[in-house]
Amino acid sequence: MRKKIVAGNWKMNLSSEDASSLISTLNEQNIEGVDLIIFPPSIYLDRALDSKKTIGVGAQNTYSKDSGAFTGEISPSQIKSLGVEYCLVGHSERRSIFGESNELLKNKVDTLLHNDIKVVFCCGEAQEERESGKQNEIVRKQLEESLFHISADQLKNVIVAYEPVWAIGTGLTATSDQAEEMHQFIRNLVLEKYNMELAEDLPILYGGSCKPENAKELFSKQNVDGGLIGGAALKSDSFLAIANSF
Ligand code: PGA
Repeated sequence: MRKKIVAGNWKMNLSSEDASSLISTLNEQNIEGVDLIIFPPSIYLDRALDSKKTIGVGAQNTYSKDSGAFTGEISPSQIKSLGVEYCLVGHSERRSIFGESNELLKNKVDTLLHNDIKVVFCCGEAQEERESGKQNEIVRKQLEESLFHISADQLKNVIVAYEPVWAIGTGLTATSDQAEEMHQFIRNLVLEKYNMELAEDLPILYGGSCKPENAKELFSKQNVDGGLIGGAALKSDSFLAIANSF
């Protein structure tokens, strides 16, 4: 049985006080059969880890090197030394706003896995790519160029998040059939590249305007193993309602 996961990507949101209050509310929760993970801004990682009880804690980003003269960056080995368990790689905002290339993402994947940090690898097509029917090609390229070089053993420490760019923060959601179709496609790619067991075990999350109103329908699909939630993860009520939607 694959893990069910609901992860909250807080992005660059929440004051110090609001972050502490959300962390403490979520830490009181134990939802049977569902792993909750939060990705707070890095300045709040330390406190999320200090008060950690039931929730997993991940970083939204790291650089691809372990140390050195990279002003403003944080490294996989630094977050590992804090006790961080997960890191996002390839979020569309990193790709489009910060110009992160597939090559850089590949290096980030390597350094994170080398530090025993689980990678939540985000992929997804832009609106015009979907409109021209290129979504499979785009997602395949993202996976092939930044993820599929790793070994079968390393893949056990990866979660994939399919996040169509046109659905992120827009209020538009992929239909559950569109999500299922892409998740199935990704699982088949893993089967072709690795093996049946890894393909079956890989958690694939959906992200993009996932909210309490649509989570149940999305999570009802066989290949949708949970969600990577942005806006609706900033309030405990909506985040927990999503986590209770399996
Ligand atoms: P959203 O963001 O839920 O606000 O659309 C999802 C994400 O970017 O991970």
